[in-house]
Amino acid sequence: MALIKPYQSNQLQPRYVDDEGERARLQVEIRKYAALTISSAAAANAVMLGAGYFTPLTGFMSKADTLSVAESLQTTEGLFWPVPILNLVRENSFEHIGRSVALCDPNLEGHSALAIQEVDQVEELSDAEMGHIAFHTFGTVDPQHPGVAALLAQGRYLLSGPIRVLNYSYFEQEFADTFRTAGQIRSEIKQRGWQRVVAFQTRNPMHRAHEELCKMAADAVAADGILIHMLLGKLKSGDIPAKVRDAAIRKMVEVYFEPNTVMIAGYGFDMLYAGPREALLHAIFRQNAGCSHFIVGRDHAGVGDYYGAFDAQSIFDDAVPLDTLDIEVFRADHTAYSKKLKRVVMMRDVEDHAAEDFIFLSGTRVREILAAGESLPPEFARPEVAAILQRYFTESN
Ligand code: ADX
Repeated sequence: MALIKPYQSNQLQPRYVDDEGERARLQVEIRKYAALTISSAAAANAVMLGAGYFTPLTGFMSKADTLSVAESLQTTEGLFWPVPILNLVRENSFEHIGRSVALCDPNLEGHSALAIQEVDQVEELSDAEMGHIAFHTFGTVDPQHPGVAALLAQGRYLLSGPIRVLNYSYFEQEFADTFRTAGQIRSEIKQRGWQRVVAFQTRNPMHRAHEELCKMAADAVAADGILIHMLLGKLKSGDIPAKVRDAAIRKMVEVYFEPNTVMIAGYGFDMLYAGPREALLHAIFRQNAGCSHFIVGRDHAGVGDYYGAFDAQSIFDDAVPLDTLDIEVFRADHTAYSKKLKRVVMMRDVEDHAAEDFIFLSGTRVREILAAGESLPPEFARPEVAAILQRYFTESN
């Protein structure tokens, strides 16, 4: 049987230039083009487009598409898409219309070229339009929201048009064992002979609730395997860096999961903290990576109190037109440690429990305990995971 189809497409459409000779040729040709250092958010979009995760998009959105996606979750051509994919630059760039430009990487020393963009249009956005886009995407215009802040910190000139990607920025070297493209994950799923694969999104080292969520979801959907798919890009301050998280997750999988049931991989994207909208994007790019199911739990991709605990689940019922997504969502209830049963449970499964029977587990709480220099109790994290996190907090404080 064939794997699940890529999103709205029969084939993955990675924008990375796969042919080595062609890449070398473009590296020379690119010297003729105007060079623009782009934002980290735009660079992350380019990496995702390059890696096939954003199939069937071919590049950056125009103003009309941006407003349409922000307001009504579809492009002007009717493609369901939850988050604007933007290249916003500071320089007045109208002279680039109809030309190719070199997009230079803000995250690499020397700002080497990351991609080539054919600039279809350059459009200026007003502050009011930026606020409008932020409001629809994030549900708020509060500049304290890290996603809103990252959006508003970018320029006001929107460059739209298709791109060809020349490398995967810092992700390939810095996370050689973990960074994978959508195509690489698909190939590995096939190679392992899996069909039903449940994907788990994370930006945290995995605490006990995360671990049990994966196991419960895999059981419930009779999965052949689990993809633990972590974000490798930029995070808000206070979140635990990807290297530490990677080590913690690998240790947890090694000790606490059955062999050959888990694939660990990461993707090169900056966290948006867009809650429900980001959950939709997450589902799309896990379908592109060949996964049949996707876990959405409590406050998925959330931050602070901006979103309701299960808004990221209800948006799949409220906003996704029928037959748009092939990937199925596993909706997880709040998962917590039961003092009565001495194990992690999904709260909907234990009706006889009162609030005081639970210890509530969250990434935020884990970070608070560690930052206070306290040790993580076993109800929160496996001891091997706790040791890795405690070492990081001791060394970095
Ligand atoms: S996220 O920003 O990447 O979503 P995190 O890594 O903490 O943050 O969460 C990964 C997934 O686990 C999300 O689907 C989230 O909803 C879910 N999750 C985390 N903690 C819990 C919990 N205690 N109960 C239920 N779901 C949870």
